[in-house]
Amino acid sequence: MEKVQVNMKSCLQPVPKILVSCRDKDGKNNALAVAYCCNCSYAPPMIMVGIVPSRYSYKIVKDTGVFVVNIVTRAQKEMFDYLGSHSGRDEDKLLKLNIKVEEGIKVNAPLLADCPINIECRVIDSIVTGSHEMFVGKVEYVHANEELADNNGDIDFSKLELL
Ligand SMILES: Cc1cc2nc3c(=O)[nH]c(=O)nc-3n(C[C@H](O)[C@H](O)[C@H](O)COP(=O)(O)O)c2cc1C
Repeated sequence: MEKVQVNMKSCLQPVPKILVSCRDKDGKNNALAVAYCCNCSYAPPMIMVGIVPSRYSYKIVKDTGVFVVNIVTRAQKEMFDYLGSHSGRDEDKLLKLNIKVEEGIKVNAPLLADCPINIECRVIDSIVTGSHEMFVGKVEYVHANEELADNNGDIDFSKLELL
């Protein structure tokens, strides 16, 4: 098979689409859509999320050092698209969409309650890679809908319809 050169931007696909939620120092909650996200350590468990410095959420994560990764399903596409195309700088997006939040157990940041998996993270490092700053988050607690947990306590991803 002949190979041709294709565009380099975001060439590693598919990757899970997630919503990163955070809370500023005045208690205002926010969330943004993030495609630049991956596991980056097994022991201790860590994941990385890439946030562009111009995002309203960027300063919040930078200042507070905590965030929550919320895994979204196909049914939540509308919420994902809105949070990924409007800024918390202009409005309270979570209030506007009537998004239900719950408190983190380990970090002071909101969980998006209707997302089936919520991963509480504490920033332990960050790397400016170019357009994005990759925040390395130590995983502090993982919440999953009961039916997604298998007998070993692992998430059964086959039961999720990822976006
Ligand atoms: C599919 C999709 C993927 C996105 N991935 C990222 C990303 O990885 N990092 C990022 O900083 N912004 C990403 N964005 C853009 C932000 O979600 C968007 O600019 C958002 O409005 C920022 O919200 P904020 O200003 O309230 O933080 C993505 C948007 C979409 C629709």
